[in-house]
Amino acid sequence: MKGFYISKAVAVAGIIIAVSAVATIIALSIVYSQEKAKNNAKPTEGWTTPPTATSTTPTPSNEPWDRYRLPDSLLPEHYIVTLWPRLHVDEHGMYIFTGNSTVVFRCVKETDLVLIHSNKLNFTQLDGHLAKLSTTDGSSPPAIKTTWLQVRTQYLVVQLNGNLVPGKSYQLFTEFRGELADDLGGFYRSEYYQGSQLKIVATTQMQPTDARKAFPCFDEPAMKAVFHMTLVHDRGTVALANGMEIETVNFTTNGVELSRTTFEPTEKMSTYLLAFVVSDFAHIRTPEGAKVLIRIWARRSAIAEGQGDYALNKTGPILEFFERYYNSTYPLSKSDQIALPDFSAGAMENWGLITYRETALLYDPHASSNGDKEWVATVISHELAHMWFGNLVTMKWWNDLWLNEGFATYVSYLGAHDAEPEWNVKDLIVLNAVHPVFAVDSLASSHPLSYSEEEINTPAQISELFDTITYSKGAAVLRMLSEFLSEPVFARGLSSYLKEYAYSNTVYGDLWQHLQKVKNTAGLELPDTVNEIMNRWILQMGFPVVTIDTQTGNISQKHFLLDPESVPARPSDYNYEWFVPIKWAKNGIHQDQHWLLNSSALYEPMKSVEWVLANLDVTGYYRVNYDSANWERLLSLLIEGHQVNKCLLIIPVINRAQIVDDTFNLARAKIVDTTLALRTTQYLSQEREYMPWQSAIRNLAYFFLMFERTEVYGPMQSYLKKQVQPLFEYFENITSNWEKIPTRHTDQYNQVNAISLACRTGVEGCAELTNGWYKQWMDNPENNTIHANLKSVVYCNAIAGGGEEEWDFGWRMFSNTTNAAEADKLMYALSCTKEPWLLNRYLEYSLDPNKIRKQDATFAIVYIARNVVGQPLAWDFIRAKWDYIFNEYGGGSISFSRLITGVTERFSTLFELQQLQQFKEEHSQTGFGSAEIALEQAIEKTKANIRWVAENNDKVLKWFLSA
Ligand SMILES: *[C@@H]1O[C@H](CO)[C@@H](O)[C@H](O)[C@H]1NC(C)=O
Ligand SMILES: *[C@@H]1O[C@H](CO)[C@@H](O)[C@H](O)[C@H]1NC(C)=O
Ligand SMILES: *[C@@H]1O[C@H](CO)[C@@H](O)[C@H](O)[C@H]1NC(C)=O
Ligand SMILES: *[C@@H]1O[C@H](CO)[C@@H](O)[C@H](O)[C@H]1NC(C)=O
Ligand SMILES: [Zn+2]
Repeated sequence: MKGFYISKAVAVAGIIIAVSAVATIIALSIVYSQEKAKNNAKPTEGWTTPPTATSTTPTPSNEPWDRYRLPDSLLPEHYIVTLWPRLHVDEHGMYIFTGNSTVVFRCVKETDLVLIHSNKLNFTQLDGHLAKLSTTDGSSPPAIKTTWLQVRTQYLVVQLNGNLVPGKSYQLFTEFRGELADDLGGFYRSEYYQGSQLKIVATTQMQPTDARKAFPCFDEPAMKAVFHMTLVHDRGTVALANGMEIETVNFTTNGVELSRTTFEPTEKMSTYLLAFVVSDFAHIRTPEGAKVLIRIWARRSAIAEGQGDYALNKTGPILEFFERYYNSTYPLSKSDQIALPDFSAGAMENWGLITYRETALLYDPHASSNGDKEWVATVISHELAHMWFGNLVTMKWWNDLWLNEGFATYVSYLGAHDAEPEWNVKDLIVLNAVHPVFAVDSLASSHPLSYSEEEINTPAQISELFDTITYSKGAAVLRMLSEFLSEPVFARGLSSYLKEYAYSNTVYGDLWQHLQKVKNTAGLELPDTVNEIMNRWILQMGFPVVTIDTQTGNISQKHFLLDPESVPARPSDYNYEWFVPIKWAKNGIHQDQHWLLNSSALYEPMKSVEWVLANLDVTGYYRVNYDSANWERLLSLLIEGHQVNKCLLIIPVINRAQIVDDTFNLARAKIVDTTLALRTTQYLSQEREYMPWQSAIRNLAYFFLMFERTEVYGPMQSYLKKQVQPLFEYFENITSNWEKIPTRHTDQYNQVNAISLACRTGVEGCAELTNGWYKQWMDNPENNTIHANLKSVVYCNAIAGGGEEEWDFGWRMFSNTTNAAEADKLMYALSCTKEPWLLNRYLEYSLDPNKIRKQDATFAIVYIARNVVGQPLAWDFIRAKWDYIFNEYGGGSISFSRLITGVTERFSTLFELQQLQQFKEEHSQTGFGSAEIALEQAIEKTKANIRWVAENNDKVLKWFLSA
């Protein structure tokens, strides 16, 4: 699953009102989903740490139905399922579906119990029981003693009078009905208007644990089976599922005209990858005779407007890229991609029928920005990567979700690069994934990538795994691994792993083993086994800061903690030390890679009076610090190097971004002085590249958050205005006075940075520009001439600078547009107003599903909280409505953690800390679901903020005044 992003374009524009917005939203945005397995050998490797303090497993009990994990006595072989969703309300005003299912399973251990997952389904009594048991050979099975639903653990329990016999197969038949609710989980409904006509779509989101809401099933990833699906649907609608349609038959029941579509049986697969959709969508497809049939499905008007064309253009080539990369043929005959108006995550890699948010699949050159386009290419790439890594070979249990998601996240950049080689997306992984996850992983309340299997049991614990660590740290450490093995070796290892485990399940050690095997034949030198090197990165939380002393040649490592006094929430068997690969350069010349294997070591070549730069291209998952003489050399290189235009050649652009990000964070951890960090921004008046600017803007976002309400604010604004002015003028120039759009993808991003920071700091001409464009649009609503790249920044500034009229116009446009990319931009911009009453009204709207789709509600609230005026309003709002939000928007979604993180971002006073702690106590009854960790992290971050402001306020004020 590719989760919680909203489009990156919006995120980029976020800097306007709250420069701060960007870092967090990108960090939070990165969530997808999938599985991958975990190492049974772990205990012998000394995994002795206790479970986290997060969601604790409720009431232990001895009965099998009180445990969340299935017993190992039965294995499913195949299912025969018929489902009939009703796309009209019934006499009780409810949307429902009915269905029946036969599951054939084999007994592998004697048992008198059938436990099968089932949630929120009502069963028809069959001979007095909720299910009927038979054998596959016609013999008689043991009689059913009793059946019941175990609600907490989500089982249908069938207790028998006798035992099932190992080696024999049985079948269990059930008939049931469920609600087709608008809860974005299981079999659910999505709604939209076509003209004035309300349309209903029946669709699914099974991952991680909601297949059991659609029909009774052994709902664990290792319980792979073959699925024979049949859908009954209204005449004239289209039914889709994982397998290709075989036939559609028309029939009539009680005067209702219906169709029945049957599908080819699936491959052997996990339940969480099932999907079925009934809609009246249109599609476009690859021509007859194409190797794989690719279809893009969406609302009729979106397809008619050509919004699916880009996805169709790119899906085939990306699929072929992965076939080459994995050296493995796509195993299915078709690949459907469907854009849904309501969807909780970003996209979901259901095998053969990938579901997307509209913004993740549809592209409209007039309404979509370059960021939206990049998002579409990356999400498609992410999901297609899962077709092998995740779908063909699947994690044994959710504790290894990181390998699945981290992997798909990493290779999505390779696939997107193949599709759009001009974009430089491979570099952008540092800004989009590595830097943001550093921010989370430097907290003592972070967690290791890999949990032990026993630690993850409940659906809430599973949902909580879909976080930034899983996606972005997973991607970062796999990228590091691929770099030090070299890409060809890494890819050969993958291919060998996929071949061995096709259609089955693995633990992460299986991948290490295959990489090791390939590495050995490639004759590559490593300081230790892949297993020894990598386990240090995945079994302990956090990452090191590597300190290089060029005076002595000493290099050392230390667990990097944002709060140096904090203590990691769990001990580590590796003592918080890592095997660190160091790619480095001296005086601009690349040196041999060096491995740091101990807490510190002398390495003569690093003793130098010339400048040393380590972690080239930030391929390593660590930060770097130097002695002050080397820092001074790097700083003067940035400034002088730029003057003679030299540093462009010798400090790679990614490392310019790194120097900024590292120093700011080292300063927050009190390892270097804050003024050193601020000094890295001095050369920016000469910088034109996107990555360093973006890095600076994100780090300064923290200064905005902390100081926007203080005396530091004024002098900081003056300084930044001075720094951004040349960039603003540069873009004014190369765009012929804002007439054109720059050619390069990253220049297009940086143009938005220039405008937003310029407007924010009051550069002359900026507000006039944005207000003028918006005014033109208000005067002529049918003809919006604002370029899609600039829409977010322009809308936001104009609404911030305007009043009710501007806001209401934006709201009208938001409510009327049928384009999801446009809607996202307006939804964000509406949060930019400075009027408290408008913000409060907008907060109320956010929880009205007729105004704001449920999938978007938490985004709207977090946007409002980013606004300095809106933040206290949003905080009051979610505190007052927590129970309601929790019940209405809870489900298995991770958006709660986004909500908590977003709303508390600015907290930096004792009073706010008390409020947060009080909030935690008051709602301990309702609980925080998937936001447990986020809440702990918010408390930790607030404490760190309080200390940081106390220590830095005067110093920072003085620096800005004199800069
Ligand atoms: C399951 O339901 C479908 C649709 O109502 C029906 O046609 C079919 O006969 C049912 N299957 C069984 C085994 O009862
Ligand atoms: C299932 O049964 C419960 C309890 O009777 C009822 O409230 C609910 O509406 C039923 N659901 C469906 C889809 O019929
Ligand atoms: C079933 O009905 C639909 C809609 O009335 C029609 O377009 C289709 O041709 C029919 N299919 C068959 C096999 O008769
Ligand atoms: C899709 O590809 C066609 C043919 O190469 C091209 O003409 C068209 O502009 C592309 N559409 C988009 C949206 O990229
Ligand atoms: Zn994913």
